[in-house]
Amino acid sequence: MSGNLEGNVIRVLFIGDVVGRPGRVAVREMLDPLIDRDRIDLVAANAENAAGGFGVTPDSAQELFDAGVHVLTTGNHVWDKKEALELLDEDERIIRPANYPPGAPGGGVVTVRTPAGSPVTIVNLSGRVFMDSVDCPFRKADEILRGLGTEHGCVIVDFHAEATSEKRALGLYLDGRVGALVGTHTHIQTADERILPGGTAYITDIGMTGNEEGSVIGIDMKAAGRRFLSQMPVRFNLAKGVPDLNGVLLELDTESGKAVSIQRVSRSLDRSVSP
Ligand SMILES: [Fe+2]
Ligand SMILES: [Fe+2]
Repeated sequence: MSGNLEGNVIRVLFIGDVVGRPGRVAVREMLDPLIDRDRIDLVAANAENAAGGFGVTPDSAQELFDAGVHVLTTGNHVWDKKEALELLDEDERIIRPANYPPGAPGGGVVTVRTPAGSPVTIVNLSGRVFMDSVDCPFRKADEILRGLGTEHGCVIVDFHAEATSEKRALGLYLDGRVGALVGTHTHIQTADERILPGGTAYITDIGMTGNEEGSVIGIDMKAAGRRFLSQMPVRFNLAKGVPDLNGVLLELDTESGKAVSIQRVSRSLDRSVSP
């Protein structure tokens, strides 16, 4: 979709679940050229798998911030590494699903500014279908949006969820009230990106950033296959190979808070990376 090049449009790159070292290397090596080419104002990435495929640590988060990411979202794997408990309380740029019950460390909403000064608010929510039984994401979204004013700028929701139906439903429920709702968690990019009737950019899943080829959503097929064939607990290893960077490029109108365009991003690194 074509871009509106007027001054009130901001361009945000949202990167899908960064899986382990291959995902981090992909971001480190591919982000700068993308920022230059697409004149990107702000970068967000889902980091729930950034540390060895399971969870996020201070080092893995710092590597992504150093690569040019401004905000990290997460999901059901956020607590896999114990360091995350402190990290989320200390660094407000890393958020977790806002609909975890009260008492969970960290927050689920963050407002940041583009270099030109436009505020952008990122909200992280988790689905409940085939997921942990967190609080209602629909009612939590209502509650969050009631508390936001114009000073919070365009709103982007990362809806970390398994079921397409739940993602579509929340997209349509929030249509016209947020700039974009992007799905994460399934690690497979869907081809249904669109602007919904009320002006919200929507995609069911932006895909993952990690080794795709020969892997089962980032995990080596040998281990994943053994798990499916034996139904026994199996230690998962990350797949070796050429990492992809998957995500979406969003253009949002800072006056209306609505979307101008949504475009899928899917690129491969020029070399193989071991986990
Ligand atoms: Fe993930
Ligand atoms: Fe997930």
